[in-house]
Amino acid sequence: MKITIIHGQSHKGSTYNMARMLAGKLGGEVKEFFLPRDLSEYCVGCTGCIMKSEKSCPHYERLRPITEAIDSADVLIFASPVYVFHVTGAMKTLLDHYAYRWMLHRPEPSMFVKQAVCISTAAGSGTKTANKDIYDSLFWWGVGKIYSFSSVVAAMNWESVSNSKKAEADKALGAIARKIRKNCGRVKPGLKTRGVFFFLRRLHKAKILTLNDRQYWKKMGWLDGGRPWKK
Ligand SMILES: Cc1cc2nc3c(=O)[nH]c(=O)nc-3n(C[C@H](O)[C@H](O)[C@H](O)COP(=O)(O)O)c2cc1C
Repeated sequence: MKITIIHGQSHKGSTYNMARMLAGKLGGEVKEFFLPRDLSEYCVGCTGCIMKSEKSCPHYERLRPITEAIDSADVLIFASPVYVFHVTGAMKTLLDHYAYRWMLHRPEPSMFVKQAVCISTAAGSGTKTANKDIYDSLFWWGVGKIYSFSSVVAAMNWESVSNSKKAEADKALGAIARKIRKNCGRVKPGLKTRGVFFFLRRLHKAKILTLNDRQYWKKMGWLDGGRPWKK
């Protein structure tokens, strides 16, 4: 199983340890990226990725190793500490760079058969909104199966997290790992994702959305009988 972890922070605290806990339970080949260490550039809002090509992004080359690791993984883990009720700015910055991959634009077909996990930790509250920040992108990328895990650690670092909290995380992450292993290799997107796909397909067929995106959908065969979750 190929696993890619995107850490929304560059230090190794509670969030890092919980993401690694899950990866350890899954087993397999792990690639990981730390933000902002591995991508510190903000989206400049040029809209080139959406309107022309992702290659026109000024950060395309810097982003490329992360994009390749995301595309080649079976399982994606996106983990972020909660900062002011949301993901870190560094995680948001990464997600901004993939706006062109949202389903209405040019989704990467392999997403539809991947599994992904959103992880967040907070001292007190805000994990729901932080996980949603990640979930929204993963859903709109078309990821076939998405799990969420959060932990209210009541601490500012891993060393101060109680053993009972660590045991709780260990148990919950173990349950997610079992589901992922069971589903690996046979993921199909759920009804909601397929519903959105077919709705967008209608809009593309009606030539309501941008030409660039329509040409991509046509090239992929999705305006005819092809579907990204079918070989
Ligand atoms: C800038 C900043 C903002 C934070 N905002 C929140 C917050 O909104 N809610 C909360 O419960 N904890 C907040 N915290 C605490 C962290 O989310 C919490 O300690 C988290 O578990 C840290 O994970 P880490 O050890 O991986 O860095 C904040 C911490 C920092 C540094």
